[in-house]
Amino acid sequence: MPKEKPTNKQDAEISSSYNVSKEDRRAAFRAMLAYAKPHRGRFALIFLFTLLAIAADLLQPYLVKIAIDDNLLVGKNDYGMLIWIAIIYFVFVVIGLVFTYLQNNMLQYVGQTIVARIRKDLFGHISKLSMSFFDRFPNGSLVTHVSSDTETLNQFFTQVLLSLMRDGMTLVFIIALMFHLDPVLAGYSMILLPIIAGIAIGFRSYMRKVYQITRTQLSRLIAFTAENLAGMNLIQAFHQQKEQQGSFDEQNGRYFRSNVREVTTNVLFNRSFDILGNLSVAFIVWIGGMAVFERTMEFGVLYAFITYIRQFFQPINSITQQWNTLQSSTVSMDRLWRLFSIKPAVQDSESPAPLKPSAVKGRIDYEDVHFSYQEGVPILSGLNLRIAPGEMIGIVGATGAGKSSLMSLLCRFYDVQKGSVRIDGTEIREIPQASLHRIVGLVQQEPFLYSGSIIDNVRLFDELISRDTVIRACQFIGADALITRLKDGYDTMLSERGSGLSAGERQLISFARIVVFQPKILILDEATANLDSYTEQLVQSALQIVSKGRTTLVIAHRLSTIMQADRIIVMRAGEIVEEGNHKQLLQLGGYYEELYSHSQGTHAVG
Ligand SMILES: Nc1ncnc2c1ncn2[C@@H]1O[C@H](COP(=O)(O)OP(=O)(O)OP(=O)(O)O)[C@@H](O)[C@H]1O
Ligand SMILES: [Mg+2]
Repeated sequence: MPKEKPTNKQDAEISSSYNVSKEDRRAAFRAMLAYAKPHRGRFALIFLFTLLAIAADLLQPYLVKIAIDDNLLVGKNDYGMLIWIAIIYFVFVVIGLVFTYLQNNMLQYVGQTIVARIRKDLFGHISKLSMSFFDRFPNGSLVTHVSSDTETLNQFFTQVLLSLMRDGMTLVFIIALMFHLDPVLAGYSMILLPIIAGIAIGFRSYMRKVYQITRTQLSRLIAFTAENLAGMNLIQAFHQQKEQQGSFDEQNGRYFRSNVREVTTNVLFNRSFDILGNLSVAFIVWIGGMAVFERTMEFGVLYAFITYIRQFFQPINSITQQWNTLQSSTVSMDRLWRLFSIKPAVQDSESPAPLKPSAVKGRIDYEDVHFSYQEGVPILSGLNLRIAPGEMIGIVGATGAGKSSLMSLLCRFYDVQKGSVRIDGTEIREIPQASLHRIVGLVQQEPFLYSGSIIDNVRLFDELISRDTVIRACQFIGADALITRLKDGYDTMLSERGSGLSAGERQLISFARIVVFQPKILILDEATANLDSYTEQLVQSALQIVSKGRTTLVIAHRLSTIMQADRIIVMRAGEIVEEGNHKQLLQLGGYYEELYSHSQGTHAVG
């Protein structure tokens, strides 16, 4: 059953970014704004367009005021002037439309460009992080970061910035126009500002909390779903659908409720704003109406004023509406910033050793290696192992003995805590990781295949490697017959993780990768699964072929795989307890002999 607890714990770890200090928040903000910098010129244009659009919009009521006060009410009946005013009005409408359109399009373009860039950098950054990072972070949450957090940032650039610019400027314009029309009435209207601000501030702190809860629920739901889909075969095999459905319903329900709360809070706020808006119009009509009766104010001024006071609320409302998005984007910025500031635990040395992958002989030395995944739980303590170039080493031992860990250290997925691992006498921490991964080739316990054709899976999407090379590699290891039997031969598309292929077939494909990429050291972490005898033979002979001229380390669960090895290492609880070739170890009559006699009955150990 998928573990739910750790997911939640790790989730909390990411969510704790909500509690970051102000400085961190500012640093995150600055880091994200740095992405906007190259677009300064465009932003300036957008600003100009916005200015023109707003001016054109807000001058329309003013034109009407001129028509009323200077023409209609004074009884001038100047048709020519009225027509001119109508024409100018129309021109203003067109200008407003055109520049709103331009400004919107340009802003969308800039926003999308910035966010695409961030997404690209983020993906690049994550793929550089070390294995210890992926042990800690659930994949589901990472998916959320790459997809929805960057999407929220997009909203920041397109909606929040737009609103701050457009609505901010509109507000300033309106206030200026109102004071120009009638300072007294404008003064009265200004009483509204602190009331509106008060409501907005109270609302914003509440909304912030509600929003955080919703986000956390969503990210839990996604992590849960991803985990379940990945382990679906297990869930079905153990008939856990009901239990999982129950857990899902619970998470789904929680997400639903927090969403509803978010929406209702929002609606409540918006409606109180509307009421306030209508009350203030009534207020202006009352005060202004009296002034018109007493002839201290012109009617056109009152008309323009009422129009402006209506428009006065709209930008404030829309700025505060953006508050949500601003909140969520600061949360997203924090989280992205956190991710971006995680340094890979394994890093290239500043002064790398000049070791050419092609010149490597393949000597390996583990010297007094101490290693643990978590502090206080040592996996290896003081392990020593020397392997000569070209040697074929078999490694056996019970599950959890530390066999795979030993190999992870050689690939430098993790760094040792004490001691060293050397290749040809060079400490692997001195070897640039790019070279190291060309020196050491790994065929994993569960070979990972990508969705794509077999050709692409063998050459790992490297177009520089020709189709012919791939086919020759497959023929070389004897997988050709098996592949040509598939529906589309070498072009058969594998579904996610190669789920359409058997374990043995997947291993053969990863052997072909080894032949193509030619690493000097080969690690094979054999799958525990039993292969049918035909495939087993194929894998066996493929191994014989690819191990020639390479230092080969084989973690074997079937002893038959390594009976021919030059040397067999027997591991138990992180220590090497026996070593020698098959014959010697049998004579020793120890742990290996015990494993062997067991395996004679069952064919497999592990
Ligand atoms: N990523 C990890 N984080 C924490 N502990 C781990 C991690 N990987 C392995 N371990 C622990 O380290 C110990 C050694 O694991 P390792 O995978 O090296 O065993 P193994 O000998 O390869 O076993 P198997 O035969 O089942 O593949 C185990 O106790 C395991 O629980
Ligand atoms: Mg293992």
